[in-house]
Amino acid sequence: MTDLATAPGPVTVRDATPPDLPAMAAIYDEQVRTSVATFDTQERGAAKLGEKLAATGPGDVVLVACLDDAVVGYAFSGPFRPRPAYAGTKEVSVYVDAAARGRGVARSLYAALLGRLDAEPSVHTQLAVIAQPNEASEALHVAFGFERVGVLREVGNKFGRWVDTAWYQRLA
Ligand SMILES: CC(C)(COP(=O)(O)OP(=O)(O)OC[C@H]1O[C@@H](n2cnc3c(N)ncnc32)[C@H](O)[C@@H]1OP(=O)(O)O)[C@@H](O)C(=O)NCCC(=O)NCCS
Repeated sequence: MTDLATAPGPVTVRDATPPDLPAMAAIYDEQVRTSVATFDTQERGAAKLGEKLAATGPGDVVLVACLDDAVVGYAFSGPFRPRPAYAGTKEVSVYVDAAARGRGVARSLYAALLGRLDAEPSVHTQLAVIAQPNEASEALHVAFGFERVGVLREVGNKFGRWVDTAWYQRLA
């Protein structure tokens, strides 16, 4: 098995495919169990995550990052809200395996994801909703040009406490 912390290969980024879903779900469900980074409280598994791959709108993108041949992270953009006037607004997020963090995986994913969105004329702005606190995610988004535009107070309740969300926006 690849030791993710010491894997020698470079990070490669490509479009996600259905065989990637179990590895993506393992990364996501670990966060469901242990973190407020997601407001899901029940593990979702591969099937639910697969709905993202089925999205076909312009600017709906799902990418995986691999170290050697192992999927160690993923990033996606998808609809913010279903009403048609929101079509130019995409919500983005990124998850990296805990064992592979701090070596540029999220940076590689966001460089590719935001590059794709910048090339899609119908995408006007991107939003990231960051449950507090999350220093790593906030620094990542600021590094890619997102601005903090507001905070919703105590909108989530997980692990017995109320959680704020900070909203970050990047305009094309
Ligand atoms: C946030 C997360 C995606 C970062 O992934 P990563 O692969 O470790 O990040 P990278 O190594 O590519 O770092 C990219 C930038 O993010 C920021 N960053 C990453 N980890 C950081 C940390 N522990 N503290 C502060 N900033 C950090 C830095 O700006 C960094 O750039 P730099 O290396 O030039 O300083 C990862 O910690 C993660 O998956 N966390 C759990 C899920 C989550 O919170 N997702 C975001 C939901 S909004």
